Formats: sequence, structure tokens, C-alpha cells
Amino acid sequence: MNLIKYIDKLPLLPTVKPLYKKGDINYYEMKMNQFYTKMHSSLPDTLVWGFEGQYPGPTIEVKQFEKIQIKWMNELPPKHLFKVDKTIHGAEGDTPEVRTVVHVHGGITEADSDGYPDAWFTNGFKQVGPAFTREVYQYSNLHEATTLWYHDHTIGITRLNIYAGLAGFYLVRDKNELSLSLPKGKYEVPLMIQDRTFNPDGSLYYPEQPADAFEPTPKFFGDTIVVNGKVWPYLDVEPRRYRFRMLNGSNSRYYILKLDNGQPFIQIGNDGGFLEKPVIMNEILLGPAERADVIIDFADSQVNKIVLLNLAPEEYPREGEISIDTTGQIMQFRVTLPLMGKDVSQVPAKLRNVEYLKEEDAKINRVLTLVRSLDDMGRRIVLINNQRWDEPTTEKPKLGDTEIWTFINSSVSVHPIHLHLVNVQILDRQSYDQDLFLETGQIKLTSEKRPPAVNETGWKDTVNSNPGEILRIITRFEPYTGQYVFHCHILEHEDYEMMRPYEVVEQSR
Ligand code: C2O
Ligand code: CU
Repeated sequence: MNLIKYIDKLPLLPTVKPLYKKGDINYYEMKMNQFYTKMHSSLPDTLVWGFEGQYPGPTIEVKQFEKIQIKWMNELPPKHLFKVDKTIHGAEGDTPEVRTVVHVHGGITEADSDGYPDAWFTNGFKQVGPAFTREVYQYSNLHEATTLWYHDHTIGITRLNIYAGLAGFYLVRDKNELSLSLPKGKYEVPLMIQDRTFNPDGSLYYPEQPADAFEPTPKFFGDTIVVNGKVWPYLDVEPRRYRFRMLNGSNSRYYILKLDNGQPFIQIGNDGGFLEKPVIMNEILLGPAERADVIIDFADSQVNKIVLLNLAPEEYPREGEISIDTTGQIMQFRVTLPLMGKDVSQVPAKLRNVEYLKEEDAKINRVLTLVRSLDDMGRRIVLINNQRWDEPTTEKPKLGDTEIWTFINSSVSVHPIHLHLVNVQILDRQSYDQDLFLETGQIKLTSEKRPPAVNETGWKDTVNSNPGEILRIITRFEPYTGQYVFHCHILEHEDYEMMRPYEVVEQSR
């Protein structure tokens, strides 16, 4: 479908209010439902899923240490919007088609409120998954100021549920952020960037998973870019600084963001919150689930129409064609509004203090190999340490321990690796001889260790493991014990076994 670009306004996402206050706890109800929405003015209405009748879901905004409760409620119809592949883990046999469970991505959340993939529930909690324990989730919001997001995490159908629309922003604010004088109010705009494909009748297209081979591993790439639920939208801006919280909410697609007037981004944060110092970025790489918190000063723009481009080919980081007319473009900024008063916002030279974890404090180095494999039907999949989701938990860090996790990527794709509960720091990346490794299991390093990119320093919750490279991250497992997950955030990989449980255990065990 070839839809005309930049004729629809960017939707600004509303913030959801708590239903009531119970003691010092704000209580929310978030209903997941199915509804029609206009995604482009020349496209018939599209049937989507969302929260509280909105896709993307309304933004949840909290203060650090504020306690909230959310009852995530499934009010979806019994039939899925897309064909459910019943051959994969958790979606087999007579398992209900429409199941949901919500995870706050990047949040420091107790295990029984974290949205464990097997803790799913159906409409009205009539049926629940084997790990289901509670209807109302609690969040203590221990995170420093950051851009989190919430999304579905149901075993075997996460890719379909998020593609249908089950995602929204979750912003944590703190005192430090308030003191920074960053652009705020209407000058602070969250952008959820996704790719979609439409059928001519306006409905969303998602391929049916064939029973036979995938080539080379399952992934989904749409031919149309959608921001905050609108196809190739535009935003009218004043000639002043804006803060954009960009999220890659796509199933598989990587983006390399760039402004077509050559103006750089001033990046102030990533998926772990603020960087220590702002960094000037001409291009920003954003893998699935990664975020970039950026300032753009439209007073410097020279031109009044600026397109946010995407320079990443589909099979990034492999070379490939960029479809300049379609997925090579994301949205347009129009510097058309008069300046409403002096721009008093600032980009401070220092944003926060980051405590860097020390390698010598690590109690253990866990080596995790990302390997290509075949599933029972002969389809190509990628596994972590050659283990399936259902195999016993092997990674059991002790509460409070610092650990290094080393990912050896022996596949041909980049994988955005995400650990629940903790934020991590990237130590380094190093190339190795992949052919030799695949033949003999022997590691021959072929490069020096490379430090993380300037916008990957400090804390992160999603880190890119590149093919032919060894990625080392460090983290401290706290403050909760319990069963969590880590996985590749390419949603097709996650659903097709590239996810493993891990358990934080008491020190005494
Ligand atoms: Cu964004 Cu385990 O998820
Ligand atoms: Cu992957």
C-alpha cells in the first residue's frame, strides 16, 4: 500500500489518571480492548487492540518511589486479530487464543507483578496461565527518571499482541529531572515508532506462520511506518528546543535515525534513563525496545520541513537496500508555529551521576551462546545456549551479586537482548572468528575490545549483540528475588524460543 506521507498530524498521547487513591497508593485500571481507529486519512478504519480504547495505550506517568497498583484487564474478544501459530511454545492445542499479560519494560518490579509470560489471563480472568498469581499488579517505581514502556508479554503470542497494539509509554520522573530545566509540557513528546503493513480494507496484515521453513529466522518487517498510531505523521513545532522520547516499538525492525537537514540530535538519555552527559549524535541506532531521549533545537534548523529518516536496512547490520520512499522515512517536523515566548529550557552539561560497576566485583561470568538451530518442524530458530524456554532454569544469580554475562553471538543476526528486573552496563564488544567457532567450538579473537558507543554508556535494559561478536555486560541482581526472564526483543525470536527464565535466589541458598 502506498499511502501519502505527512498528511496526518502526529497524535499526542494522553496521560492516564488513577481511578482512585487508596492510602498512599494510586490505583489504576487498564482495560485492553478491541476497536477501530483511523491510522491514515485515506485508509479505511483499522481494527486494533489497545488500552482504554487507545492505541498506543495512554501514558502512565509516575514519580520515583511512588507506589501504584494497576489492574490490567482483558476485555478482548475470544478470537485473535491474527492467525495464531499453535505449533509454538505456550500456544499449543486448546490453549485459549486470546491471552494477555502485561510487563513494564525496564521497570524494577517484584516477580509476581512483572508479567511473567506464563502468568497470562483471558477476558475477565476466566482462564489463567500456570504462573498466574494475582489480578492487581504493584509497582514501587524504584527507577530513576527514565522512559519505560508497557507491553504484552504472553507466551507464544507476544509478537501478535504487540503488533495488534498492546503497548504504551510509562514515564518515571524524579527530583533530579525536575532540576534540569529540560523542555517540558507540550515541548516534551513521546514517539512510539513501529512498522506495519495494511491490507487494502485498512486491516493490519501479519503473515501466517507457515508450517514449513522460515528463511532464515522468523522476523516481521512492515512496509509502512507508524508513529503514535498514525502513518507517516507530521508535527508542527515552534523554533525552539523540544524533547523527544523515542521508542522502537517494532517487532523486528532496527532503525538508524537521522534528520534530513543534517542537524544532529542532542541525546540525553537511553533506555536506562539519563546519560551522564549529553552527547551529540548525527545518527542514532535504535533496536527493538531501545529508547533514545533526545533534544532537537528547531531554532537551528535552517529549513522549515525536516524529515526524520531511517537509514537501517531490514536485515541490519547486513548490507541491504534502504527503501527511501517508504520505511526510509519516519515522520516530518514543520517549523511553522510562532515562538510562544522565550525558550527558557536548557541542556545541562551534566545530567546525572552513574555508578560504574567494576569487573573485579563480579562473582561469576556466565557465558551464553546465541546459536542457530531447528525446531521440531525443521524451521530455523535461534536459541540461547541451545536451550528451549521449557528447560529447567540454569541461570540463578544470588540476590545482591554482581555478575558478568557474556553473549557469544554465533548467528547471522543482531539480537537486542533484554533482562527483566535489572539495568545493565555494557563492558565491551569483541570480534571473533565465527566460522572457526561453529566448526570447532574454539574462540579465536580477531579484534580488540571495543567500548560501548557514547550513547550506550551508563545504564541500559536492552543491549545489541552483534553477529560474530562477543558482548559483555555487567549488572547487580537486586532488589528482589524470584523468577524473571531474559530474551531477544525481536518479538518473532522471543515467541520462537529465544527466551529463557532466570531466577534471583537468596544468598543462603
Ligand atoms: Cu520489553 Cu521481556 O520485554
Ligand atoms: Cu533475536
